[in-house]
Amino acid sequence: MRLEGKTAVIMGAGQSPGEGLGNGRATALLFAREGARVLCVDRDLASATETAEMIGGEGGDAATFEADVTREAQVAAAVEQCRTRWGRLDILHNNVGVSVAGGDAGVTEITEEAFDRVMSVNLRGTVMACKHAIPVMREQRSGAIVSISSVAAVESYPWVAYKASKMGMVAFTKQIAIQNAEYGIRANVILPGLMDTPMAVDTRARAWNRSREEVAAERDARIPLGGKMGTAWDVAYAALYLASDEAGFVTGVALPVDGGTGCRIG
Ligand SMILES: NC(=O)c1ccc[n+]([C@@H]2O[C@H](COP(=O)([O-])OP(=O)(O)OC[C@H]3O[C@@H](n4cnc5c(N)ncnc54)[C@H](O)[C@@H]3O)[C@@H](O)[C@H]2O)c1
Repeated sequence: MRLEGKTAVIMGAGQSPGEGLGNGRATALLFAREGARVLCVDRDLASATETAEMIGGEGGDAATFEADVTREAQVAAAVEQCRTRWGRLDILHNNVGVSVAGGDAGVTEITEEAFDRVMSVNLRGTVMACKHAIPVMREQRSGAIVSISSVAAVESYPWVAYKASKMGMVAFTKQIAIQNAEYGIRANVILPGLMDTPMAVDTRARAWNRSREEVAAERDARIPLGGKMGTAWDVAYAALYLASDEAGFVTGVALPVDGGTGCRIG
């Protein structure tokens, strides 16, 4: 029970259609197993409800809230919902992220609309969630923010908006970490590598008209550690550590969870 007595808001607690578990859903499940009360926030309420029902089925405590992270008022309402429902907000987990699905492309193909869409979901959504969570955490003089970036921030990556937004999340996390340390608020960011999630594998298989097995095999082949992608649980366990009091002296860190992919950089 590493999160006993804590409350958590998980932005993007549902998941994309496909096989297996997404990062947000696995993190919501794990936080609840470790004793947190979890507000499952997603623009896809049905998917967030599925996550909450899975938590309820295991005897955990979860509620749902429909919000699009590109709408500030909805993000603010999600934070407020956690506070009014449970009296406090200990953990903000920013998991929402899009790339292919947002129309991302290479520099000679990217459109203004696709660039703005991906940036507003990935980066602005994270900034707005923090904007509304931090005052609550400052009042409590404690809180942990965990955001999900990507190893694409530091590695070569084909599409421009995803990379820029994910690197922006690293810089933003360091900024809020130093500016809120005096309030006892920690902010850290995880850089997942290639994970076997519906969003990463099934979305690409659909977009490229390929089989899931083909896409998965290509991704597996790029992983140094065991030649196999990670799973949503790898991201969830890293998030659990960073959200828990065990990481009480850890802030402003960008933690790769990538099976060694980032080691190729040097
Ligand atoms: N799977 C990987 O290989 C990999 C690698 C690196 C980073 N990541 C990051 O992991 C995170 C997501 O992982 P996942 O497996 O949970 O993805 P997912 O797509 O399964 O889940 C994300 C959830 O966010 C929701 N969402 C999308 N846009 C939204 C919006 N505007 N407002 C509110 N909710 C919205 C979706 O409905 C979905 O339920 C992303 O930030 C992604 O960039 C994944």
